[in-house]
Amino acid sequence: MVRYRYKKQNQDCNKTISSGKDKKFMCGIVGYVGKDKALSVLIQGLKRLEYRGYDSAGIAIRDINGKISICKAVGRVNDLEKKLRYDASGNLGIGHTRWATHGGVTVNNCHPHHVGKVTIVHNGILENYLELKTILCNEGYNFYGDTDTEVACAYIDYVYKNNSSSEIKDILEKCMNIFVGSYAIVGMIEDYDSELFVMKKDSPLIIALGDNGTYVASDISAYANDTKEYVPLEDMEYGTIMDNEIHIYKNNKELELLFNTLDVTNNEEGLQGFNHYMLKEIYEQKDLVSKWYNRYFNNHEIDSLVNMNDFKKIHIVGCGTAYHAGMVGKYLLEYYGDIEVQVFIASEYRYQKLFIDKDTLVIFISQSGETADTLACIKKVKEYGVMTLGIVNVENSSIARIVDKVIYTKALSEVAVASTKAYTAQVYVLSMLALKMALANDKLEIVDVKDFYLNLSNLIDKALNYDYKHIIDLIWKQEHMFYLGRNIDYVTMMEGSLKLKEISYIHSEAMAAGELKHGTISLMDEHSCILVMATLERLANKTISNIKEVKSRGAKVILLIREDISNNLDSDCYDEVILLPKGCYFTQPIINIVYLQMIAYEVAKRLGLDIDKPRNLAKSVTVE
Ligand code: M6R
Repeated sequence: MVRYRYKKQNQDCNKTISSGKDKKFMCGIVGYVGKDKALSVLIQGLKRLEYRGYDSAGIAIRDINGKISICKAVGRVNDLEKKLRYDASGNLGIGHTRWATHGGVTVNNCHPHHVGKVTIVHNGILENYLELKTILCNEGYNFYGDTDTEVACAYIDYVYKNNSSSEIKDILEKCMNIFVGSYAIVGMIEDYDSELFVMKKDSPLIIALGDNGTYVASDISAYANDTKEYVPLEDMEYGTIMDNEIHIYKNNKELELLFNTLDVTNNEEGLQGFNHYMLKEIYEQKDLVSKWYNRYFNNHEIDSLVNMNDFKKIHIVGCGTAYHAGMVGKYLLEYYGDIEVQVFIASEYRYQKLFIDKDTLVIFISQSGETADTLACIKKVKEYGVMTLGIVNVENSSIARIVDKVIYTKALSEVAVASTKAYTAQVYVLSMLALKMALANDKLEIVDVKDFYLNLSNLIDKALNYDYKHIIDLIWKQEHMFYLGRNIDYVTMMEGSLKLKEISYIHSEAMAAGELKHGTISLMDEHSCILVMATLERLANKTISNIKEVKSRGAKVILLIREDISNNLDSDCYDEVILLPKGCYFTQPIINIVYLQMIAYEVAKRLGLDIDKPRNLAKSVTVE
């Protein structure tokens, strides 16, 4: 076996590589060359990638006579299996689960694509595909679907046809010089009976070694059970893969590969008695907070965290739930660290004017570590010479590899599309960074907060065992929901609202309670339903005034209020109330979000929806 590649050590904290389904991307790629029947290996791999969300699937096998057979189906991998008619005796093949970007959900648009002598699967977006399509049409190529991938396939065939005496690596390099956009491509060329080719830019691709062959996938979870060693490709790398040889190049130079070892100890597979991964993951938070307590307080990892006092301002960048965690971080860091913190949505940040320099710390938050917009922002800020810190769940992911420092959130693998425990883990890490600043600034002592963290597990347990029935009765038939709060409750409500809308499809809007009367109150009438959170003593009365404003317009109000500040509550101001247990400023958002996660879950369950794979959503968004 020839093994090549350099290995970049992770910069901080743990260096183990987790396995399981912890890297999630939109489309899924699998490839295999070895001694086993490729068909079963590929189907197995595709099934392991199902959790990420997709709308069609396909497979291409090269049989022992050199014939390439392709089968594609709209729907699930099961639908693909039902359509498989050929006797797939070959040991070489590729497969794909597609989440439509260019072109509708049709068999023609489904991968693999085959043009001339080339067959490929592709993740990402080829931005200059229309330009290339025009060139190829003039060269006599015909196209049957609408995808950029079919164009990429035709272009590789075109370059191959015109340079048939060249080695595959030279064909790939020529194509990569022309392709604009993001791509992880795995393919076969008809004249080569025992090798796959790979090319990678801005979309993840890993190569893994097994006893019976070599695997390639967009996500190690596809083959975590079959392999113990893997290597992620870096941008602009390309090459060929055989049963017992791998050749990877960059800029026409062959690379030395050092393989990472999979750590399979930490990820529990399967639903383990739960009906959905989302519920399982919400429940896991109860034990995770104890593990994190050990990590930071007993094992003193808080001491080795980045010293934020070295900076004058902080930018936090993320998408969706990660952005919301960043918002919680802003309140904590500003309050306890006395440092200016701005939080940005990555898809905006990547194109806006930045005012950053060496005194700025830029924090990137991501569960998957592969989100395209977030990755692009890291590349952008690196040009300013700033220090970058990643708060990432998936170890050795692209974001974890390119930031200057990384803190792994250690939430273990998250399968459900709706993020729950990964969010809590992100908030926990940010609270540790804020606590470290507070300690350094003599704002408090560790004994002031330690017990609040220690008690988190019990309080999460309370949230898990709460009877939500009356609350769900009010929400489940609503078309619109409003989530209100102030300060850190407001940003917790942003996350709660996102949870509800992504899995129940009920339109939901979060806003600062004080902002309601500046416009949105015009929507309030007897059909409206509002969820309000009030867990900050100094602001609770203000929030109660705001809900009186909506109550008097006939809206239904569900109030989540901290038990110890609910004494003089006027029962006319709400229809249902949840009394929340008391935490401290650091831990209260963690307690609160579990109630909101449970509400979202229970509503979607009542509606009978596909909770783990909500429509149109992917676990991680690896295209812009
Ligand atoms: O993997 P990332 O944390 O970078 O993903 C960011 C968002 O796409 C993600 O949080 C998304 O909003 C989730 N579906 C929320 O549940």
